[in-house]
Amino acid sequence: MKIENLTIPVRVYQFEELEASIKTLFGKAIENLPHAHAPYSQFHVASASLLENGEIVCGTNQENASFPLGLCAERINLAAIASLYPKTKVLKMAIVIENKRSPVLHPVAPCGMCRQAILEQENISNSPIEIWLKGQGDVVYAVNSVKDLLPINFDGSCLV
Ligand code: THU
Repeated sequence: MKIENLTIPVRVYQFEELEASIKTLFGKAIENLPHAHAPYSQFHVASASLLENGEIVCGTNQENASFPLGLCAERINLAAIASLYPKTKVLKMAIVIENKRSPVLHPVAPCGMCRQAILEQENISNSPIEIWLKGQGDVVYAVNSVKDLLPINFDGSCLV
C-alpha cells in the first residue's frame, strides 16, 4: 500500500485585487442573483460564464415545491449555454451565493453533481474551465479546471 497525496492549487484573492474582467464576470453573476427561485432554501446561487465568443451567459438555481425537481445554478447555466451557443467553449465560470437566512462569507463550491456536469462540458470541448467562487464576503477562490475540484473522476472513457 502507498499513499498518494493529491495537491489542489487554489488561488485565494481579495475581491478588490481581481482584474477588471473577473470583476465584470462576478458583477454579472451578482446581478443575476435576484433571478434565483429559492423560496424553500433561501439560498440563492448564480453562475456567470464567459464563452470563447466573448458572450457571458448566466444561470440561477430554480427550486420546486417538489424538492427533488430543483436545479442548481451551474447546471442551468450549462444548459442555457448549450442552447444559446452550441459547441462554444466555456472559458470561465464565476459562481456567487446569497444565503438569505444567514450570510455565508466564505466562497461556496459547486455540489458534486454540478462538478460532474462541468467536467462533461470540459471534456466535450477539450478545454479547461476556470472556476471562480465568491461567498458574501470578500474572499475569492479560483481553480484552473473543475478537475481540481474533482481530482479522481468518472468520464466517458470508462464506457467504451
Ligand atoms: N445549489 C446550487 O445552485 N448550486 C450548487 O452547487 C449547490 C446548491 C442550490 C440548490 C438549492 O436550490 C440550493 O442551492 C440549496 O441547496
